[in-house]
Amino acid sequence: MICELSIEKLVQGGEGLARLPDGRVCFVRGGLPGERCRVELIAGKKDFARGRVVEVLEKGADRAQPKCPLYGKCGGCSLQHLDSAKQVTYLERVERENFKRIAHEELPDDFVIHQGEPWGYRNRARVVYLGERDGHCRFGFRKQESNGVVPVDNCPVLTPGLNDFLKNAKPSEIFKGQKRIPRDLEINLFDDGTGRVAYYYRGMPEARKRECSVSCVKIGAKQIKSDASVFFQSNLSLLPRLVQSVREAVDEGIASGAASDEWLIDLFSGVGFFAALLQDKFKRITTVERDGLCLQYAKVNLSEVQCKSDSGSPDHCPGQALAGMTKDGCSVENVSAPAEEWLVKNVVDIPATLIVDPPRTGLPPEALGAIVKSSVNRLIYVSCDPVTLARDFAKFRTAGFSLKRAEGFAFYPQTPHLEMMFVLAR
Ligand SMILES: C[S@@+](CC[C@H](N)C(=O)[O-])C[C@H]1O[C@@H](n2cnc3c(N)ncnc32)[C@H](O)[C@@H]1O
Repeated sequence: MICELSIEKLVQGGEGLARLPDGRVCFVRGGLPGERCRVELIAGKKDFARGRVVEVLEKGADRAQPKCPLYGKCGGCSLQHLDSAKQVTYLERVERENFKRIAHEELPDDFVIHQGEPWGYRNRARVVYLGERDGHCRFGFRKQESNGVVPVDNCPVLTPGLNDFLKNAKPSEIFKGQKRIPRDLEINLFDDGTGRVAYYYRGMPEARKRECSVSCVKIGAKQIKSDASVFFQSNLSLLPRLVQSVREAVDEGIASGAASDEWLIDLFSGVGFFAALLQDKFKRITTVERDGLCLQYAKVNLSEVQCKSDSGSPDHCPGQALAGMTKDGCSVENVSAPAEEWLVKNVVDIPATLIVDPPRTGLPPEALGAIVKSSVNRLIYVSCDPVTLARDFAKFRTAGFSLKRAEGFAFYPQTPHLEMMFVLAR
């Protein structure tokens, strides 16, 4: 069914909000505030409906021509119809409203969203192998809302290094030593910031994995070792800004006496990213991460030995290092366990500095409960999902915490996603 609707505002997820003649709310994919559109209704529920724009009848001032020919087909970059220069203004509005709706509180007046490049920023991607043509690999991205695949030659949000890989990768190199290549094989790609691309696919022979999937990323003077098979942030050019904000928040906490330099606890630590970049400030560090491979990297990243700074080659990176005492007297413990389990079993009885960076789902309730019961009076919460962040904040507030600082990081331009950092204290 097609109807004509007026888009009132943008909501979480990047859709436009309109009202159907029967009063129900309709979330419209591709619609912008102030626009009048012909909308195809694609799903209807008792209280709301979903639709997609088939024609813009009255165009909004901030509408842009999508740069990518795969817009609307591939599953990414659904906000390309909004002018890049205006995206942050809209995201800020959406997040202020979102926070008020979920947490019943205003984001601080000085809430700021840090921005980087709108295109060519994404250093991590997952592609599907589609076979060979003229000795080169052909790749695709998963389609919007389906498991189908749309072929891709070039993607404007990927770094030049990743686009070069899409164009020039040869099956004879990528699948060296591999007898059979499964259909629909997904490959994780990771550009370390220098254009060197590490890659990983399920079933990759162990020796090839060591050779091809390991990466070293330079953040300031520090080298962080990682791997295309595990989590790592996907906007390396804006990442130092997040690190700076986290370091400032840590300093403020220690200076105010609300947190201490005796103990840093980095929960959901991945490869020990934040802990490694804060190591100079603490006497004792604990990283907690569920994924065993991440733990191995965390051990390396928090040891004294570092990857050679001017070489991207994993051959130059050290092997696993044992946790223990570093040269400057910082005691390091890398734990492989669910964060909620570790928190319940380990009593945090000093006002430690705590960083949490959970997946989209937010903090498991047991983890949140254990933090509230501990001696932690101040925490830094990094999140890639403002909805679960607002939900968790509301629970912390009930336990006496308040919001001291809120910053956003536009890590994913052309998409409705946003990275956030909150500092909470009681
Ligand atoms: C958003 S990533 C953050 C990683 C790291 N802080 C970074 O910036 O690179 C979330 C991490 O939490 C891990 N994870 C997910 N659920 C977990 C849990 N219940 N306990 C511990 N780690 C978990 C994932 O494996 C992933 O590495």
